[in-house]
Amino acid sequence: MTSLIRVEHLEKRFRVRRRGRGALGLIRGIVPRNQREVVAVRDISFSIQPGEMVAYVGPNGAGKSTTIKMLTGILVPSAGSVTVDGLVPWKQRSRLASRIGVVFGQRTQLWWDLPLVESLRLLRHVYKVPSEKFERRMHRLVDTLDLATFLHRPVRQLSLGQRMRGDLAAALIHGPSILYLDEPTIGLDIVAKDRIRRFLLEINREEGVTVLLTTHDMADVSHLCDRMMIIDHGRLIYDGGVEEITEMHGGERTMVLDLEEDAPTPSLPHARVERHEGRRLWLSFRRDEITAADLIAEVSGKLRVRDLTIQEPDVEQVVRRIYEEGLVEEGAR
Ligand SMILES: Nc1ncnc2c1ncn2[C@@H]1O[C@H](COP(=O)(O)OP(=O)(O)OP(=O)(O)O)[C@@H](O)[C@H]1O
Ligand SMILES: [Mg+2]
Repeated sequence: MTSLIRVEHLEKRFRVRRRGRGALGLIRGIVPRNQREVVAVRDISFSIQPGEMVAYVGPNGAGKSTTIKMLTGILVPSAGSVTVDGLVPWKQRSRLASRIGVVFGQRTQLWWDLPLVESLRLLRHVYKVPSEKFERRMHRLVDTLDLATFLHRPVRQLSLGQRMRGDLAAALIHGPSILYLDEPTIGLDIVAKDRIRRFLLEINREEGVTVLLTTHDMADVSHLCDRMMIIDHGRLIYDGGVEEITEMHGGERTMVLDLEEDAPTPSLPHARVERHEGRRLWLSFRRDEITAADLIAEVSGKLRVRDLTIQEPDVEQVVRRIYEEGLVEEGAR
């Protein structure tokens, strides 16, 4: 199958002014002394097939937004290549515009003082959407994103969750086949996040829209994506299944025990005490080292257990560990 998005050895460097240095610093090498180079994205390659929903995660400053900006054509790469639907984004930006939709969760693309509906109508002209198609899409988006109650209100008066839905409608009004979402659920409450996730699943399933999404909320990843790419310090450190990495790095499960009485923290050969607070004890253990049943037997020999639950590893824990400790195990890429 041909890739819809193809990125090869992509790199982005920024020159930033050093503080406190004169503009006439000696030139050493290629970077002037009064400047410093930030490598935001280094040697990243990946490809995305039509209809995929891919999560792009990494800590603050990892290079996610910079990558998205190169994919949309807002930024020109320092090295490497990108093609999106056969086009080079920064060279063929206006041709590409009709095929992509973008939401930057941190910053609205709607006209602040205009009613939402007017922003959508303006976009219709920007993208030259035929009026019949526009009406049809408008109807569908108003319906599925539940925009009717605030469609005629100026964007500045909308709540964050309403505005984000408005931004999604704006990104999709022209019927693009690719949607880039840079933190589409940032700052939203659980109900609003859930509504946006359901909407994204729906447009992916029904319209086959390909989605690349950055997020710090691992629930977005587990609800929406089978595939995850992890970027750290500008490098792609993982590209693969969400389930696979959870299995590989999150082999640790947690047993939470409620004890009958106060007891000293036990030492157990096949489990690690994660926390011990009052009569509650958190043990982590690996599936390949001990079964839950054997661990229960071991603990029961030392402590009087009233109740227990077992928590399976989730993508949140896995990614937190990778951010903290790095991806060390072999075969991860
Ligand atoms: N226009 C710019 N000029 C200079 N440096 C920049 C510019 N844009 C980004 N950077 C730097 O590039 C690096 C990557 O930034 P980027 O915004 O891509 O990170 P991110 O992964 O999106 O982070 P976050 O999760 O905080 O949104 C950071 O060190 C950032 O300071
Ligand atoms: Mg960002």
